[in-house]
Amino acid sequence: MNNDFDADRLKERIATQLVAVRDRSLAYTEADDDVLVRQHSALMSPLVWDLAHVGNYEELWVLREAGGITPLRPEIDDLYDAFKHPRRDRPSLPILGPGEARQYISGVRGRTLDVLDSLDFTAPDPLHHAGFVFGLVIQHEHQHDETMLATLQLSGRPGLVREGVLPATPRRDAPAEVLVPAGRFTMGTSTLPWAYDNERPGHPVDVPAFFIDRLPVGNAAYTAFIDDGGYDDERWWHPAGWRWRREHDITAPLFWTRDGGAWWRNRFGRNEPVPGDEPVQHVSWYEADAYARWAGGRLPTEAEWEKACGWDPVAGRARRYPWGDDDPTPGLANLGHRAARPAPLGAYPAGASAYGVEQMIGEVWEWTSSSFTGYPGFRSFPYREYSEVFFGDDYRVLRGGSWAADPAAVRTTFRNWDYPIRRQIFTGFRCARSAAPEEAG
Ligand code: AVJ
Ligand code: FE
Repeated sequence: MNNDFDADRLKERIATQLVAVRDRSLAYTEADDDVLVRQHSALMSPLVWDLAHVGNYEELWVLREAGGITPLRPEIDDLYDAFKHPRRDRPSLPILGPGEARQYISGVRGRTLDVLDSLDFTAPDPLHHAGFVFGLVIQHEHQHDETMLATLQLSGRPGLVREGVLPATPRRDAPAEVLVPAGRFTMGTSTLPWAYDNERPGHPVDVPAFFIDRLPVGNAAYTAFIDDGGYDDERWWHPAGWRWRREHDITAPLFWTRDGGAWWRNRFGRNEPVPGDEPVQHVSWYEADAYARWAGGRLPTEAEWEKACGWDPVAGRARRYPWGDDDPTPGLANLGHRAARPAPLGAYPAGASAYGVEQMIGEVWEWTSSSFTGYPGFRSFPYREYSEVFFGDDYRVLRGGSWAADPAAVRTTFRNWDYPIRRQIFTGFRCARSAAPEEAG
């Protein structure tokens, strides 16, 4: 048991994070009622469902499970159970309206702060220990906030473009790819207190030597794939990807349109030229996989990605972030919706990993070649429906976190997953290739 924390300071941090995440949820739902109750895409929930769902989740875990408090509104549990009602059906449910939803989640939040005051963080109960249950709800709400942003992007409504200043790209010579020598590293974690069950336990993995792109694939490179007829050449595509591409007539990333010779994109309701030097986003796993084959490489495995991102070969230990264990700052990574876009390629040399790989945290969720499975020794906690029910070949793992991800829900071990056809989330990728014996250093 790790008692290496100051419970009072941790409680202050949690209180601050609870305020921050709620401010964020309320900012994303500051809209007319009809915008909040409408379903903008069959892929997504109405925004007002997400809003009350995060409060209901907080009630279930903090108030009832950890705090032992009598249910406030047990009759609505069923409506906000993501497993009982798929997203497409949620608009026809008798869910709370916007006003009621805001009132409900703020009522829950008041009691959450009481539980925060009284909970013993040194207790052995793993839900209480080191405030795990608060980490659970804070990360959950941030993940739904990112989902709400994807919904808003799909809606085409203006309003969420933020003009935060991202660093400019310094001029320098740096290699296009980086060699990660063969060797064992520790994948996942047994020690990070707020890590999810799917990140545990830390375990050794032997990784053969490989090369990985120093930077994510950018829009200019991706456009070269399009111009080279990449979408029309079956050779590059996974068979299921080829079927998907034909059936839906996919010819470019989501939100891109062609105007004469130029590509434009729609970003939160604005049309703008596609910037060549930004990581490509809104591509499916199938598109990423096809591009990588066209470029003479492949997607990295999840183990390769994590080793390149988090392993410190000199210290022989994993880092929490590519640059080390210090919290992200605006000079290290593009996180937290500062601007509503990825930053230019090369903008964060200070955020490089021990191997010199850049922009692995922030920018875009990066597709890996791996299916979502449990690590050896996996034990579901605190409930099977967070991770375990998704294990299997249906989902691919995404790593790194996007510009829309919050630092509280991002680390080198963090795992996200989705169907290989999905691209409404903020997804991109980088390429890897196996090193031949004579290249392996
Ligand atoms: C980890 C992003 C795939 O949104 O389905 C939210 C997170 N789990 N509520 C999802 C989650 C329960 C999950 N992802
Ligand atoms: Fe949820």
